[in-house]
Amino acid sequence: MSELSWQEAVEHIAQAASLDELKEWRARWVGRHGTITERMKELKALPPEERRARGYELNQAREAILEALAAREATLKDLGEAANLEAERWDLTLPGRQPEVGLLHPLTRVRRRIEDVLLRLGFSLAYGPQVETEWYNFEALNIPPNHPAREMQDSFFVDIPGMVLRTHTSPVQIRAMEQHQGRLPVKIIAPGLTYRRDDDATHVPMFQQVEGLVVDRGISVADLMGTLTAMAQELLGPSTKTRFRSSYFPFTEPSLEMDVTCAVCQGRGCRVCKDTGWVEILGSGLVHPTVLRNGGYDPDQVSGFAFGMGVERIAMRLYGLDDLRLLYQNDLRFLLGFRHQGGLR
Ligand code: PHE
Repeated sequence: MSELSWQEAVEHIAQAASLDELKEWRARWVGRHGTITERMKELKALPPEERRARGYELNQAREAILEALAAREATLKDLGEAANLEAERWDLTLPGRQPEVGLLHPLTRVRRRIEDVLLRLGFSLAYGPQVETEWYNFEALNIPPNHPAREMQDSFFVDIPGMVLRTHTSPVQIRAMEQHQGRLPVKIIAPGLTYRRDDDATHVPMFQQVEGLVVDRGISVADLMGTLTAMAQELLGPSTKTRFRSSYFPFTEPSLEMDVTCAVCQGRGCRVCKDTGWVEILGSGLVHPTVLRNGGYDPDQVSGFAFGMGVERIAMRLYGLDDLRLLYQNDLRFLLGFRHQGGLR
């Protein structure tokens, strides 16, 4: 096995590439069955004068190999440590990395602002399903089958007969009255997603509304106008003025649309308000007697008012947007423009 002289072995050891390789050299030369070890065992068989000289030589060889092993081992360990240090080196002069911080979508902020204002006015939150029965979405609200009002709100019907994606949050009026089981007052707001087959600069097929409903004894149009004007001034600024125009909804009588002075031009006239100084923000009215009855209330004993507004429309007004679709395109250049608009609530 050992065609090498021990001097040659020392040279190889001095150049060993790894600690594993050193281990092999150690076993092969000075291990229990190493070359030198075996030769030493043979010493006993030699005549005394030869034994001394041979023993001396073998000892020298053994020392030299052990020394070479130790020296190379130290060098390899040093090299390994240096390489590790280099690999783990921290460059403390590199610039830091700024973490990306998320922010609430402008529509979420506007919806929460509307909710805040109305909760402070004493309303509570109520919710209903987005996939709604035709009864809650239409019939119970005094919109019979084939009534032209159903075409005003081009519906998405679903595969289950008698079900639609709700076209407004008004079905929650009925659900909330049912839940109150005749107790007074009913004073709820119902924010949520609604769906209509519309898609242009001022309509998207999925949008958000906030519904409001008050039912109590002696509720009048004065309550409606006072409450909604207070809400508009909280939402859009104390100098905001409101005006009410008569309108039509099957579930209210009388029906009123509320306009506010344009927040962009303060009523002077601009592109957003089409130079009228006013913008429409919601539909409202006194709850129709049939609707009260469908919710389990007696229209001879109680009355109520209701309103419904589009959150996107309010956002457009608040931020002076002329294309509602911007709110749904998830374009960071647009969304990040709201970074400085108040807290991240
Ligand atoms: N539901 C009506 C709409 O979506 C708005 C409305 C709500 C009108 C409540 C009157 C009362 O257009």
